[in-house]
Amino acid sequence: MDHFLYKDGVLHAEDVPVAEIAAEVGTPFYVYSRATLTRHFRLFDEALDGMEHLVCYAMKANSNQAVLAVMAKLGAGVDVVSGGEYARAKAAGFPGERIVFSGVGKTVAEMEAALTGGIRQFNVESEPELARLSGVATRLGLTAPVTIRVNPDVDAKTHEKIATGKSENKFGIPISRARTVYAEAAALPGIEVVGIDVHIGSQLTDLAPFEAAYVKVAELTETLRADGHDIRRLDLGGGLGIPYERSNSAPPLPVEYGDVVRRTVGHLGCEIEIEPGRLIAGNAGLLVSEVIYVKSGEDREFLILDAAMNDLIRPAMYGAYHEIVPVIEAPAGAETTTYDIVGPVCESGDTFTKGRAMPSLAAGDLVAFRSAGAYGAVMSSEYNTRPLIPEVLVDGHQFAVIRARPTFDDIINRDTIPHWLEDPA
Ligand code: LLP
Repeated sequence: MDHFLYKDGVLHAEDVPVAEIAAEVGTPFYVYSRATLTRHFRLFDEALDGMEHLVCYAMKANSNQAVLAVMAKLGAGVDVVSGGEYARAKAAGFPGERIVFSGVGKTVAEMEAALTGGIRQFNVESEPELARLSGVATRLGLTAPVTIRVNPDVDAKTHEKIATGKSENKFGIPISRARTVYAEAAALPGIEVVGIDVHIGSQLTDLAPFEAAYVKVAELTETLRADGHDIRRLDLGGGLGIPYERSNSAPPLPVEYGDVVRRTVGHLGCEIEIEPGRLIAGNAGLLVSEVIYVKSGEDREFLILDAAMNDLIRPAMYGAYHEIVPVIEAPAGAETTTYDIVGPVCESGDTFTKGRAMPSLAAGDLVAFRSAGAYGAVMSSEYNTRPLIPEVLVDGHQFAVIRARPTFDDIINRDTIPHWLEDPA
């Protein structure tokens, strides 16, 4: 459930008409609902009720500082994957003990920043990373709390670009080598092993792969404990999918996911961490755009929008489906047209969807892409020198721009022309 509903035929973000925001900030823009973000966090938090746990929001899904502030105020933890994300977490008020650091390529500078600024744990992904982290921690006179990400070789049954738990993926250490690597970790002076980490992929619409992975983690917990390791924390990753297509069967709910966690690892007495990103932010956001032209091709109608692939790359990159709805609801029985919906960028890949039937639209009409709150704004670029689009947060009747649209000068002035290219005076 989200808080983007039609009221009197006009799409609202909570209590604010979307068209009112468009009139004030201009299109295209992203708009997020605080109530939806909050609701989704609470669903996960409640799903793990009865187990000691921390829901660590995966900020890669949407790292706007205002979104992070919403999460921080709820008492969430946060999963970061870069020095930049770590800095965002600190700036948003997350204390170090609620920040986990994931990723296969952590640098010395990132390790130093997290060790000195405070960190709950590093989710380490390889032996060389373990050795380097131990070295950095020792040099700073500190100890790095560590889980080791294991790759359980489970098929997440999702898009190949976002599956991470198969042995051919770059993530984690093969679970078959886990005992050896944990023994190495325990022998390193700067490392304190606190648990196990696993993350098998994103947009999972079936619980079976989670179950298979968590059963393997439970077995490994027992084995490693028998080897003498104090495994007290399990980070189970993120990945629960969202319903992009409302007409399709809905993916499992957080409460059902929570039951899988309880059933597979609940008996171990470990503190549980999860790292959901998409399910918290995805359906908490819309991308709002205006129709620039309706253009007739040889055999099709093109709806040309002012939003493009640089603003929302998911359709071009993964063939992802996003529901696209008119901001002013079409009356029942209104005429429909089948459109190819495209942006203004100079590539044929700048196509959001082909052959989509929807109420007939005209230039100047507003449309909204649903489920755009996760992996939308964060993956955008300024390709074709199209300024990054504004982000807006709604809370009840109020809204605020939480990232302003840069001007052309802002963009141009980020570049510098070397003096030796300037014409002599
Ligand atoms: N934890 C780790 C270690 C991850 O790599 C990810 C996502 C998450 C948590 C959060 O997963 P979520 O709950 O959001 O599924 N850009 C792609 C998705 C990439 C996901 C990368 N890792 C997309 O637009 O579909």
